[in-house]
Amino acid sequence: MIPSKIIQSLNIARSGVYFLESLPLALVSRFVTHPDLPPPSDEQVRSLWKHILKLHKREAEALEHGAYTWKALEIESPWRHLRSFMEVMSDGVRVAWRMKLNKTKHFESNMAQELTQDLPDYYTRNFHFQTDGYLSEASARRYDHQVEILFSGTAGAMRRLILPVLKSTTQAHGRWLELGSGTGSATRPVLATFPRVRVTALDLSSPYLKVARENLNDQSKVDFVQGDATELTFKEESFSAVYSVYVLHELPKPEREKLVREAYRVLKPGGVLVIADSLQIDDEPELNWALERFPKVYHEPFYKNYSRDRLEDLLERVTGEKALSEHAFFTKVVWVKKP
Ligand SMILES: C[S@@+](CC[C@H](N)C(=O)[O-])C[C@H]1O[C@@H](n2cnc3c(N)ncnc32)[C@H](O)[C@@H]1O
Repeated sequence: MIPSKIIQSLNIARSGVYFLESLPLALVSRFVTHPDLPPPSDEQVRSLWKHILKLHKREAEALEHGAYTWKALEIESPWRHLRSFMEVMSDGVRVAWRMKLNKTKHFESNMAQELTQDLPDYYTRNFHFQTDGYLSEASARRYDHQVEILFSGTAGAMRRLILPVLKSTTQAHGRWLELGSGTGSATRPVLATFPRVRVTALDLSSPYLKVARENLNDQSKVDFVQGDATELTFKEESFSAVYSVYVLHELPKPEREKLVREAYRVLKPGGVLVIADSLQIDDEPELNWALERFPKVYHEPFYKNYSRDRLEDLLERVTGEKALSEHAFFTKVVWVKKP
């Protein structure tokens, strides 16, 4: 067993590395974002670091209390990290060009162009100005590193906030459903923590699912399904838990409601629906500035509306049940139990 204090120190060091990696990209984005949008002040950066340290301390406590083990953490090979950093940096120029010209529906690869034909309009765009949006394997391979840079190496720790919630609200066996599983970054810690569970990982993007399959090729208790989380084809009451990480903020309000309605429909009585997504306005007033800044820098057309439509209210509106929530750094976890 690795002592939690060592993991906490490694997590802090990891955040330092990703923070340093973010600096060249931040410099480039300063030249392409609106001149009226100043970079974060020293005080704002200090407050970000205060919350990063709090998050890593919280994870160390979760490990000490046995909510999950080090096996749920990502172990990165330095060589692979370096290669993917170079790839993210070289893509940074294309991202900056799209930012500068505000190109939000620009798909370079033939595969991405073809895939746009059958997918909803809200989805076929360059979220975060990323190359090919969610519609190419190259985008999927860069995605996790880009997100870690955006959150100074805390994205994994923030995804793992769902683990203690799932642990305390489920029987930890049966079939679970993950909506918008992307490259499988939340799927792996769930599989590592709940070995008796079989997870169906669903995503609208076939290239992202392909990369998820590769990333999880050592796992036997996962099925991959290409599908729309707002129109599920599963029968009612099929899963004993349904969870979703960082999906709702990318959906327009009617689709957010549809996703929650569908998730609740396929949930068994006694099951839990857990949503982890971005912090919202006034959850942590000290960080409101960052939530307001985010959609001004990155292409996130539904984020402003998302950030003001409390997830707790959304879940209660759709399910009629009391929603509970907690948050750390930029992520909030909200859940309801189905009676
Ligand atoms: C920001 S990523 C989050 C991915 C992953 N859950 C994570 O923690 O990194 C959003 C994911 O939701 C997927 N997605 C968006 N709308 C969807 C929909 N209507 N149905 C299924 N997946 C969707 C995207 O393809 C993408 O993989």
